[in-house]
Amino acid sequence: MKGIILAGGLGSRLRPLTLVTNKHLLPVYDRPMIYYPIQCLLNAGIDEILVVTGGEHAGDFLKLLKNGKQLGVRHLEYAYQEGEGGIADALKLAEEFADGGKICVILGDNIIEGNIRKAAADFFTQRTGAKVILKEVPDPQRFGVVEFDGEPAKGKIKRIIEKPKDPPSNMAVTGIYFYDPDCFKVCKELKPSGRGELEITDVNNYYLQRGDLTADVLEGWWTDAGTFESLYRATKYVAESGANLLDLTGPRPGMFGTQARG
Ligand code: DAU
Repeated sequence: MKGIILAGGLGSRLRPLTLVTNKHLLPVYDRPMIYYPIQCLLNAGIDEILVVTGGEHAGDFLKLLKNGKQLGVRHLEYAYQEGEGGIADALKLAEEFADGGKICVILGDNIIEGNIRKAAADFFTQRTGAKVILKEVPDPQRFGVVEFDGEPAKGKIKRIIEKPKDPPSNMAVTGIYFYDPDCFKVCKELKPSGRGELEITDVNNYYLQRGDLTADVLEGWWTDAGTFESLYRATKYVAESGANLLDLTGPRPGMFGTQARG
């Protein structure tokens, strides 16, 4: 299975910091933000990675990551998103890279304490469809949020609502997704939302309606880092969680390293 990191967008919520570089290259504790999603994929055994970026500072990614070898990435590619048409718009650029296989998608500003290795392995054996990773949060208005069908404990999802004013639960959809190759067709057919973006939540709701969406709840902390508040929180969490996150060693064996399809 291949990995895709979506690191486009203009980072306007982090101005003036993002006037001089891309949001995903800003420091989170002792390393650039983009290292964390890379590490997340590597920890799951995914070492063929596409970084989708955009804006004026896209060249900075090459300066930092080069061919990815020093971080243990076996194969690193880049794609350039024009404008900021949304997460599902950025995902469209990964179709050729995915090459008809299943993919793991992670947003470039998402940082987790734990590991998605089991979720990746489970999705590898899931015949078709998609998987989302959920986490309970105190501020669900900021995220895609799950509305449950019946008792939340039973875990049956009715729908996912993007940034609801009146959230039906505290269960947020994190920026970690697994998709079968149908996601590209879905992205191409989407219409922009009220905020003018192609929403990843619409892609997830498509799979839900198709009866082909599974969900796992993430263990350990999760945060995004796209606002000053969350960037500060991310730095604090990483600094306090110690060696677990700070061990970015050399190449690791890729569990899904070959172009396996399923
Ligand atoms: O962090 C999880 C949340 O991410 C989800 O719960 C939401 O459902 C999802 O819509 C998203 O919400 P945000 O409003 O926080 O997304 P944001 O616009 O901040 O973009 C997150 C990342 O996605 C960003 O760091 C880079 C990538 N992105 C975003 C846009 C708008 C792109 O690659 N291209 C884009 O055009």
